[in-house]
Amino acid sequence: MGQGIAQVTASAGLATRMFDAVPGRAEQAVAAVVAQLEKLVGKGKVTSEQRDRALASLRVAMDVRDACDGVDLVIEAAPENMELKVKLLSEVVLDSPPHALLGSNTSSLSLTELGARIGAPERTVGLHFFNPPPVMELLEVVRGIATSEATVEAAVAFAAHIGKTAIVVRDVPGFASSRLGVILGAEAIRMLESGVASAVDIDRAMELGYRHPMGPLKLTDLVGLDVRLAILDHLTRELGDQFRAPPLLRQMVRAGKLGKKTGEGFYVWKDGVAKPKA
Ligand code: CAA
Repeated sequence: MGQGIAQVTASAGLATRMFDAVPGRAEQAVAAVVAQLEKLVGKGKVTSEQRDRALASLRVAMDVRDACDGVDLVIEAAPENMELKVKLLSEVVLDSPPHALLGSNTSSLSLTELGARIGAPERTVGLHFFNPPPVMELLEVVRGIATSEATVEAAVAFAAHIGKTAIVVRDVPGFASSRLGVILGAEAIRMLESGVASAVDIDRAMELGYRHPMGPLKLTDLVGLDVRLAILDHLTRELGDQFRAPPLLRQMVRAGKLGKKTGEGFYVWKDGVAKPKA
């Protein structure tokens, strides 16, 4: 998600710095952005001047301090774990200017808790992007209980600047999007578990019968099985048993079958394309 978000902000002309805790990962992400922009130039969707301008706006940061120095906005896209996000954003608060907006790409966690625990509740806001960020039009702006009006306004203006449509949502577990999205995905996995149909046919039901661009199992692969499991576990704790994760999902995560990013989930993925499992 960080890679896609950086592509979006750099393409909108915003000076963008990427940092990842895993050494070399940010460099890989920049290389992937270069490849994506190249593809878009090939398709005639982006001019070579636009590509060059975007790439000139993008660089890797050496550490959190370098990433945050003098910025107006930080977007955290770390894994879906409150403790990890608190630790990272607490560092960000120390290293960024006092006016900077503190955005989190969390899919379900509480912005109210995050803002309170990092000691900057009025500047903390949910900036929830959708995969793949360069393609999906929505930006879900999540308002914590103490998020200031000025922060929400700045977040909505940021959405417009990067060409997204914002919706402003109250800080409830799973917001407006994940709360609905994960239910469909979890039910599809339960149907696969109980042998209702093959993964391909369960997906076809939604693709051809409901005109979804991709079925719920392929979408779970795209988003990441680990991400979906973390959201379901959080929503089960917060909202109840209707969000209980299917055992098959937990088992696949334990086996390291996380979907597109690891090459296997409900499908086998090669060069970004999903193939049905034998
Ligand atoms: N980065 C940039 N562009 C991409 C891309 C990527 N990773 N993947 C696809 N695209 C572009 C392609 O270049 C193509 O562009 P053009 O039309 O300009 O040529 C366009 O998207 C369509 O791609 P394809 O023709 O390859 O494939 P497709 O028509 O099957 O579309 C898809 C692919 C856009 C992913 C589409 O299947 C889709 O919209 N799927 C649903 C995605 C979705 O629901 N996302 C939300 C997930 S939930 C989430 O992310 C939130 C969370 O908290 C977990």
